[in-house]
Amino acid sequence: MIQSTSQKLHVAIIMDGNGRWASRRGRPRSEGHRAGVEAVRRVVEAAPTLGIEVLTLYAFSSDNWERPRGEVQVLMQLFRRFLSTEAANCLAQQVRLNVIGRRDRLGAGLDSAIRQAERLTAPAGKLIVRIALDYSSRDAILAAATSGHATTRQQFSRDIEHATHSLPDIPGIDLLIRTGEERRLSDFLLWECAYAELYFSDALWPDFDEEGLHLALEDYRRRERRFGRIPVSAAG
Ligand code: FPP
Repeated sequence: MIQSTSQKLHVAIIMDGNGRWASRRGRPRSEGHRAGVEAVRRVVEAAPTLGIEVLTLYAFSSDNWERPRGEVQVLMQLFRRFLSTEAANCLAQQVRLNVIGRRDRLGAGLDSAIRQAERLTAPAGKLIVRIALDYSSRDAILAAATSGHATTRQQFSRDIEHATHSLPDIPGIDLLIRTGEERRLSDFLLWECAYAELYFSDALWPDFDEEGLHLALEDYRRRERRFGRIPVSAAG
């Protein structure tokens, strides 16, 4: 079954390759992260035109705290600036922002920028952009398992959303894209990707653009998603 082009999708992206993009140019890694912000802008702008209704971007994993202090500081500044300066633009584009992950280690300035961006863009209805910051899927699953009382998958999904400050009732991932030549999940959306289609692009994240997203979606729409069943044509 070819996927219908009108189906609204939840796409998640592991934005990998900023550091290598910069190193290959003899530039500091921070320059790769700054170029990565431009790629985020391009992809967010293109997403609604390509049938995406939820876009979840992996920006900073809980294990990324182990990076050199200077790099972590640059990233935190970029996230704060992005949320403060882009929120109005997002609202104008009908893009709702939501940050998922832990909030207690981000610092007061970033925490307040997150709250403001979420509040300002709350009325937007065309696209939800979830940005994963200080995010660990295993920690999210552990938090849901130890603090919630779920007895169904749906309730457990809600407990995970609650544990990560996610908006509620977000559909599962249809397509997970990873850029930057690696082929692993890196503790991202392990529960939510149960039936996700996986797509790997060798482009380094700062080089990823609307065309790259379009190619990924074209590939996705050629896939047959069976969810454990057999193809309709094979049913006797
Ligand atoms: C992975 O590349 C990328 C990150 C850890 C940071 C992602 C951040 C951005 C794309 C910038 C801003 C994002 C938002 C949402 C404003 P890497 O540094 O691990 O690259 P490498 O594997 O080549 O070293």
